Amino acid sequence: MRKVYIHTFGCQMNKLDSELILGELLENGYELADEESTADVILFNTCSVREHAEERVYSRLSSLKKLKEERPNVIIGLLGCMAQKEKKNALNRIAHLDLVCGPHRYKILPVLIQAAADQRQKVIETSLKGLTDNGNYTRNPQAQTNTFQNYVRVMRGCNNGCSYCIVPSVRGPVTSRPVAEIVDEVKLLADNGCREITLLGQNITTYKSGKNTLTNVLKKVSRVSGLDRVRFITSHPAYVTQELLETMGGHDKICSYLHMPAQSGSDRILKEMGRGYTAKKYLGLVNQARKIVPEIEIASDFIVGFPGETAKDFEATAELIKKARFQNCFVFQYSPRPGTKAMSLDDNVTTESKKERNNLLLKIQSEISAARKQELIGQTLEVLVEGPSKKKPERQTGRTKNNFIVVFESDEDLAGQLVQVKIDAATALTLRGKIQK
Ligand code: SAH
Ligand code: SF4
Ligand code: F3S
Repeated sequence: MRKVYIHTFGCQMNKLDSELILGELLENGYELADEESTADVILFNTCSVREHAEERVYSRLSSLKKLKEERPNVIIGLLGCMAQKEKKNALNRIAHLDLVCGPHRYKILPVLIQAAADQRQKVIETSLKGLTDNGNYTRNPQAQTNTFQNYVRVMRGCNNGCSYCIVPSVRGPVTSRPVAEIVDEVKLLADNGCREITLLGQNITTYKSGKNTLTNVLKKVSRVSGLDRVRFITSHPAYVTQELLETMGGHDKICSYLHMPAQSGSDRILKEMGRGYTAKKYLGLVNQARKIVPEIEIASDFIVGFPGETAKDFEATAELIKKARFQNCFVFQYSPRPGTKAMSLDDNVTTESKKERNNLLLKIQSEISAARKQELIGQTLEVLVEGPSKKKPERQTGRTKNNFIVVFESDEDLAGQLVQVKIDAATALTLRGKIQK
């Protein structure tokens, strides 16, 4: 029996893909290896969203040279967005790489690995046509990292073409799965003990299958018995509708959480990015969401150092963060991506300024995060327990519906259970409390 090891980089879509890939491989007689050194097949499921992410993977791949010299039969494969983007370049750069397979071809991965092993030939498979997979994988419980929380893909790809973003070119145009297929998959997971589903799409707010939009999917999925919670990521502000917000507000099982990246607070930069909204419109949407879904928590992404971003543009972003009072923000330093529209613009903000702006935004947000959490002290919150904390196993961690992380002490492992926790302390990252029996 051959053993496989997968390294996963990038977003939740990649985490799900790795699970599905592993499922397919287990079905095909593979076993899971605990580490690289005991694996016969080593796979890297990768991300291209920033150059830094790619360089890290190349350096990890390079470091496998010795392993491949010692065990030439080991198959080393590159998967994910970098495979789709780099194609033959990856084989040119890493001589000991055997296989390059893009995200649309995972269904035939077992065959590709076999071909690389049997023929001792390099294999590249990155076509977007013909075999394009629509997400219909058999979910294999053995491949899951946990049974009570699972991801389900509702669509893949993105048609938006934000000027800085490589995702549309590596993940292709939008294809949405039929609602019935999504619901069947959720039912199967719920029957196996799943309590929380996170629906995934690169730009999930553009889901469309026949007459169905995301709101239809959410309503139907939230009715699946056994399920306590439904989440969805990632939302694009230009497509978040009143109907979606009302659906969130009207259904207890749909989690009151929106990951809705703003990217910038400067209207000029937003226009250059091709985002389709202004800072004012974005803030209006945040307020509207809070009115319709009182418990809602909103998280956002920002890019600092987009070409031509002046101190004034940056100031506008800092202002937006102060006004929006997000639960959390992810801040990224602009990285020019080949083939994108912004690639033709001069990447003229220095690395130093990017770093400085990055740190400033994080500092502003961290004060807001801490203050927002202080407001919750004294409240009793419902928490879905994820299990023991990595650093302190006597503590359990979990999340509220609106995505606050809660830590509490417990002698028992309560993973997968819904518990009530009374909050008595807070840091910028987590809430602490005591479990209520
Ligand atoms: N599908 C998601 C975003 C996927 S990429 C959405 O549309 O919301 C995740 C985040 O990476 C983006 O929100 C953006 O903030 C950041 N990002 C994308 N391209 C980037 C680039 N070229 N440089 C730096 N950050 C980038
Ligand atoms: Fe990229 Fe924009 Fe599509 Fe998000 S909406 S994946 S940022 S192109
Ligand atoms: Fe990265 Fe691809 Fe996800 S570029 S962010 S792994 S869709």
